[in-house]
Amino acid sequence: MKQINVGVIGTGWCGGIRANACAENPLVNELHVAETNPERLEEIKKETNPTTFTSDYEQLLKNDEIEAIFISATPESTHYPMIKASLEAGKHVFVEKPISQTLAEADEVIKLAAEKNLKFTVGYSQRFKSKHAFVQKTLKEGTIGEPVTCLVSRNVTRELGNKITGRTKLSPASMEATHDLDFLLWCLQPRKPIKVYSQTAGKLFAQKSDTPDHQWIIVTMDDGTTITVGAGWILPIGYPNYSQCWIEVVGTDGALTIDDTHKEVQFNTTEHGIRYPMSSMPGEPVDHVFAGPMASETDHFVSAVARNRPVMVKPEEARLVMDVYVAADLSAETGEPVTIPRNDPN
Ligand SMILES: NC(=O)c1ccc[n+]([C@@H]2O[C@H](COP(=O)([O-])OP(=O)(O)OC[C@H]3O[C@@H](n4cnc5c(N)ncnc54)[C@H](O)[C@@H]3O)[C@@H](O)[C@H]2O)c1
Repeated sequence: MKQINVGVIGTGWCGGIRANACAENPLVNELHVAETNPERLEEIKKETNPTTFTSDYEQLLKNDEIEAIFISATPESTHYPMIKASLEAGKHVFVEKPISQTLAEADEVIKLAAEKNLKFTVGYSQRFKSKHAFVQKTLKEGTIGEPVTCLVSRNVTRELGNKITGRTKLSPASMEATHDLDFLLWCLQPRKPIKVYSQTAGKLFAQKSDTPDHQWIIVTMDDGTTITVGAGWILPIGYPNYSQCWIEVVGTDGALTIDDTHKEVQFNTTEHGIRYPMSSMPGEPVDHVFAGPMASETDHFVSAVARNRPVMVKPEEARLVMDVYVAADLSAETGEPVTIPRNDPN
């Protein structure tokens, strides 16, 4: 069995999950980590026992024995230069969303990966949840007939909203709804989005910044199917990184309703009251198992590189998602629908 050597850049919340999953994966020979926060570096060293560790990610790129790199650093502006440098160093790349900050940057790195024949993918971890995979499978098999309308409404806690908006000025569309747009566009392939309308509302974060609290996005597909995605980040603080999601897919011959609000496990203590464990988007380790999608997603990329198989999220798909959320932000700003492909300079 061919093993590969893997590097992880940025080992915070998500990168920590990636590094731990790689450390346990039999297809991974050596794990190398780069982390700029010295305390976090010490923690991840204890958790994963990496072959090498550094605060300078370029050291990973200089190591010819490393074939694949996970980029999990923040702020999000680090992604594009890290992708570019990793591809130029001949590494296969997995980057957390967003792929980059502009469509031009995304186009550049997608082209570079294709020219160098390297695997390049983006972390849309919800595709690795069984409930989500079931929606995709059902639509692909046509069991509920032709899709008519699809809705995903997601809300996360204000602690997450504060973390995200504190490091960068990005909208709920680009940072949160991006997952659900990717999911629905994936489910509805080969249909293409042609029109986007979006509205934001803001009363809480607006007291300190111009960040909206919530954003609705309506997308019309080229066959007339409509998509509605809502993303909010001001739920009261409860279980750390809690996310609740509700999915409705209505077709000509049936319907699917998916409750992904994580209420099936209620953990009630005198100290905290009711909490909902295993309810974050990436998931969390529970002793010997991982409850959530991010560990499987990490393993899938390792396997794609080691066995030379296709990646789950094609970079062109992530680029299309970006096209839609950029259009949504423009629509929210102007109050007008935006057509895709865009015919204005972007
Ligand atoms: N797929 C999902 O469900 C999901 C969920 C949350 C976040 N994300 C995405 O994952 C990415 C990481 O988010 P997070 O919440 O894990 O962030 P985080 O802030 O918890 O972790 C980022 C880590 O990167 C380190 N870092 C920063 N610059 C670095 C550098 N130059 N070299 C090495 N390390 C560096 C930081 O010290 C930190 O430990 C973001 O792009 C975010 O959008 C995805």
